[in-house]
Parts: sequence; C-alpha cells; structure tokens
Amino acid sequence: AEYELGEHPDFMYKEMSEQPEAVDRCLRGRLDHRFQSARLGGVNLSPQDYQRIRRVKLLGCGSAYYAGQVGAGLVEELARIPADAEPASEFRYRNPVVDPDTLYVAISQSGETLDTLAAVQELKRKGGHVIGVVNAVGSTIARECGSGIFLHAGPEVSVAATKSFTTMAVALAMLALDLGRVRDLSITEGRRVVAGLAELPATIAKILGAEQEIADIARKYARAQHMFFLGRVRGWPVAREGAQKLKEISYLHAEAYQSAELKHGPLALINPEMPSVVVVPDDELLSKNISTIEEIKARGGPVIAVTDADLPPGLATDVIRIPKAHDALAPITLSVPLQLFAYHLARALDRDIDRPRNLAKSVTVE
Ligand code: G6P
Repeated sequence: AEYELGEHPDFMYKEMSEQPEAVDRCLRGRLDHRFQSARLGGVNLSPQDYQRIRRVKLLGCGSAYYAGQVGAGLVEELARIPADAEPASEFRYRNPVVDPDTLYVAISQSGETLDTLAAVQELKRKGGHVIGVVNAVGSTIARECGSGIFLHAGPEVSVAATKSFTTMAVALAMLALDLGRVRDLSITEGRRVVAGLAELPATIAKILGAEQEIADIARKYARAQHMFFLGRVRGWPVAREGAQKLKEISYLHAEAYQSAELKHGPLALINPEMPSVVVVPDDELLSKNISTIEEIKARGGPVIAVTDADLPPGLATDVIRIPKAHDALAPITLSVPLQLFAYHLARALDRDIDRPRNLAKSVTVE
C-alpha cells in the first residue's frame, strides 16, 4: 500500500502514532520465551562468537547515534560488556583502532547515510566485525553489513525520527538481552526483560493517549528562547534525543547536559527565562534527580519533569508522568513524551514540522 498521510496533520504525527505497532513488528517472533532471551536470526553469530566479544561499539548519526547511546547503556547493564556509542562521522575520520574482539553495530533508519556507510567500509577494510541495525531493507548499509537486525518500523518520511528511534532502541535492547543471556544474565532477570519488552507497545500507546496534557505543557514554554534538557545515566541519552527533537522542529535552542555536570558551569545560566526539562527515571538515582530539580528551582528556573516515578508534590513546575517500564527499558518509554513535547511546542510556533529548514531526511553527501 502507498504510504499516505491519511487524516494525520503531518508525517511526524502519523509516525509518532504508529509507534505501538512499529514496536510490535520489531519484536514479533524475536522474543524467546523458552530461554528468556531474544532470537535474532539475522545477526548470524554463534554463542561462541558471542562469548568472544569483549566490547561493543555503536555507530550512527543524529537520532541513530542517540539510539546507539541508549543501546550502549543496555549492553553494559544487561550483558556487562563495555560499550559506547560514537557519531559515525567522528569514527571514520579519526583513524580508529579496529579491534577483532569488538562487535561494531552500524545504526541507520535509511541505510543510506554517507557517514555511517563510510564508517562501515573503514571497519570492514580493517577487518572489524560489523552488523547493521537498519530500517530500510535492501539499503546500502544493510547490504554492506550483510547481517544484523531489521527494525520493521515501516516507512518513515518525517525528518524528525520517531518510530525509527524507538525501534532502534528496542532492537538494541534485544541484542543486549541476547548477549546477556549467553553470559551472566540469569533466566529470571531475562524473563523480566522479555516481559518488559512485550509490554512496550501497550505502554507506548498509553503515553500517546496522554497527548493533550503534554501538549498543554509544551505550549506554556513556546516563548522560551533556550532550554536545558538534563538527565543522568539512563536519562542522559533521553535528554540528548529530546533536545535534538526540539531543535530540529521548533528551532529553539536546546542544550542537553548531564544533570550532575550542571553545577560545574551551566548552573550560571539558570534563571526564570531558562526552563529545564529533567528526565527522571524511577531508579536508584531518583533522589539524585530530585536534588537536581531542587537546585534549579532554588535559582528560579522552571522545571518540566519527565518521569515514571512519584515525585514529591510541588517539586517541579510541570510534570509529565508516564507509566513505569522495566528499569533498563525506561530510556525507550521516556523518549516518547519528549517527541510529543517537541511536536506540540513546534506546532504552537507554527513551524513546518515535516520540512524543517536546512535539514534532510537522509544525508547522502559529506
Ligand atoms: C539526518 C536526519 C536525522 C537522522 C540522521 C541519521 O541527519 O535529519 O533525523 O537521525 O540523518 O539518519 P539515518 O537514516 O542514518 O538513521
């Protein structure tokens, strides 16, 4: 069937709305309820190959890079393998040391981003093992990698990535689970992650159902000139992707910062005209994040808390509250309200959502 807008105001809206089904397709047939793991046939690595992996390096551009950062966190948490994400462009130009015991993962919606493709080619030339996490079947990066995970998110035409980001993170969560289950992740913990993944489509549908409340909050901040997006550990890539989304479609200046680094410089910028979006997962760092919000409030800065936790009443100026997911999967669910936040703020400013200035959906030039 042709990909059409239908009743939706724009493609970004349509694609945000499609996320429950997109995640469902990404998960379909891949959750292994017998071994409480993931079945990723396209990855083509034996358990022995898996055990030889000493490091995971995730490469991508833009939102794919931030999804890679979510993935790196999941790999470290579930598999306890050192992992990090890097922009593909940085990697390809810095003459990287390519290590035979590292699993390289190239992440791309289009499968055509030149910087990501060039990173894959540089890796292959140096004998690195690289798999793809790609949406477009038959794309150049997918073919160049030869193995990996297809997202099955369906077509994405909005410049601002939404369902591709979410499904990238889901695919990487399955990879992390699979890597974990051939190592030290217990069957009991595996079962919790499998159950958490299976719940994601319904949880994301619930978050989308709270759109009007998020829209009301977003509109309140449409007159801001600058905004901070703060997060730590699991919340940090969420904050980065949230800031990116806002910049892309609203043209407001948004800066993502690690919450604890705030006091080492940027706290100087906090005042009543500088709102901060603080990502607060309901995890062991909750009290640290509450302190961050208090520090900002004490300096007169408005705070929009995006959280799956019960925050003390009156703590934040505004609260976007979402249902709780498995701790490790919270970066996936917490990213969705930030899409809606950016979207409705941009709508309030009458921006052309699907055609943001100076940007292209797929950057196939240097
Ligand atoms: C462009 C788009 C971004 C996207 C990035 C990577 O810069 O504007 O939204 O995240 O490319 O695209 P890819 O297709 O490789 O995921």
